[in-house]
Amino acid sequence: MTATVTKEKWWKECVVYEIYPASFMDSNGDGKGDLRGVISKLDYLKELGVDVLWLCPIYESPGADNGYDISDYYAINPAFGTMADFDELLCEAHARGLKIMMDMVLNHSSDQHPWFKESRSSKDNLKRDYYIWREGKNGLFPNNWESYFSGSVWEYDQKTGEYYMHLYSKHQPDLNWRNSQVVESLYQMIRWWLEKGVDGFRFDAIAHIVKAKGLPDADNPQHLTVVQAYQLFSNLEKVHVMLKRLNEEVLMDYNIMTVGETSGLGPEQALEYVGDGRHELNMVFQFEHMYLDAAAPGTGKWQSRSWTVPELKKIMSRWQTTLHGKGWNANYLGNHDQPRPVSRFGNDRQYRTTSAKMLATFMLTLEGTPYIFQGEEIGMTNAHFPSIADYRDVETLNYYEQAKVKGLSDHEILKAIWKKSRDNARTPMQWNASENAGFTTGVPWIKVNPNYREINVEQERQNPDSIFHYYKRMIMLRKNSKALLYGEYRLLQPIDPDIYAYTRTLEKEQMLILLNFSDEQAVFTWPKELGAAVKELLISNYEARKGVTLSSLNLEPYEARVYKVSL
Ligand code: GLC
Repeated sequence: MTATVTKEKWWKECVVYEIYPASFMDSNGDGKGDLRGVISKLDYLKELGVDVLWLCPIYESPGADNGYDISDYYAINPAFGTMADFDELLCEAHARGLKIMMDMVLNHSSDQHPWFKESRSSKDNLKRDYYIWREGKNGLFPNNWESYFSGSVWEYDQKTGEYYMHLYSKHQPDLNWRNSQVVESLYQMIRWWLEKGVDGFRFDAIAHIVKAKGLPDADNPQHLTVVQAYQLFSNLEKVHVMLKRLNEEVLMDYNIMTVGETSGLGPEQALEYVGDGRHELNMVFQFEHMYLDAAAPGTGKWQSRSWTVPELKKIMSRWQTTLHGKGWNANYLGNHDQPRPVSRFGNDRQYRTTSAKMLATFMLTLEGTPYIFQGEEIGMTNAHFPSIADYRDVETLNYYEQAKVKGLSDHEILKAIWKKSRDNARTPMQWNASENAGFTTGVPWIKVNPNYREINVEQERQNPDSIFHYYKRMIMLRKNSKALLYGEYRLLQPIDPDIYAYTRTLEKEQMLILLNFSDEQAVFTWPKELGAAVKELLISNYEARKGVTLSSLNLEPYEARVYKVSL
């Protein structure tokens, strides 16, 4: 029996599919994905069984950070189509019972947004204070904060002789949330989209909308060269004040779902955003498991280390147990900013299919809303492009420049890029084996992963044993089980180096999930507390296992099994 009852909500029962529009489907042969491309694939997404489509930014943008630099929040980027296309997408999605969640960037705008153009025009412009401007200190930057995309967060502006802040690229100046006119204008804009009928928002970089008063230097003597002053611009108390107000003023009036991007916090702190009764966000994206393979805090993401299964279990379990009955998780292994999960947490060579299915089992059996990034459902892998000229992402290109200056060789830099570049996730969706993977009839804006002849949707749909069909079955399994949706999570055998095993229990329904994260056989010791109850195997990624009830506790490489345990 679970002690706490979790309130049922539609957004807790749905599966979200993230679309990176530039790389999803190109309908007009210009090499870039677009909204009509998305419309043409709605039936495919419906077949997969997902419920909500998270659309990465499609607003007007010069594209310095692929749309996360918005120059007009009320307009569609012509490269993606028109507002009529968007309306049609919304209508067609709704007609199929699919919901649309918009990516909403509130921390910063583009430097081409009319607000910023005015703001930078003179010190006494009425919109000067819409952004964060400071004088330099003794000929140096106003403080020592380091940008996510390398270098200082400050950019000098010749015209007025001051610096403006940008936590991301210099083309993404941070909005000043201490200015009430900025906040009011953003409310108005969000309401406008809600009135159109969108079903939710993913709030980009929301943890950073408020910066520490006085913008003090970060005191971080260990990492003098890489000063990432997270605590001075992340998850500050005032962010919560802002989110509460956003709910009171706008969101509360609509039955929508919200998820915030919040790096640098643990589950206890996450409850400040998602705790029942906080009225801030439904869910947050946590990053702890994304830093498992980063060498050390402060070195950023580019220096890798190997990670271990017990570490992964520890992180995920803390999130599962801390939020149970009090808040709600957002579970993901990949997105448009991260490498491909099968390359990172599985094995993208010998065991690509098996390990991709194992990871699907993992994501779809945890408590929390699962997020699938486009291509995960067919096991797309990281790209290993031979030259920096093949890469497009601003973060990757900035890293390359800085690493060159530090004296690293091309090969050393590329090795880090192959592992961690955001472009790993951004290569075009692989639809079929025809030229450019059926993504475009033109020249794709970023190269297609050369493995598209073996890995593509058409092939996956034809093969009943594919990753795609496994996803379909897992999604159905989840939807039909209250225990998988709401059951309490309990980790078994925390220090086993290869097997990740847990139960999900709701009243009389219990599920047992066994996942082998290694490329060798591993033995699962049946825990005494589970007794000799009847166990029915519901799904496995090894064909031969079908119908077998616990004949063997030897798990094959990357094997996944879900059992129903009768209590
Ligand atoms: C978020 C987005 C990322 C973007 C950044 C700046 O982290 O996911 O793609 O570059 O915010 O908007």
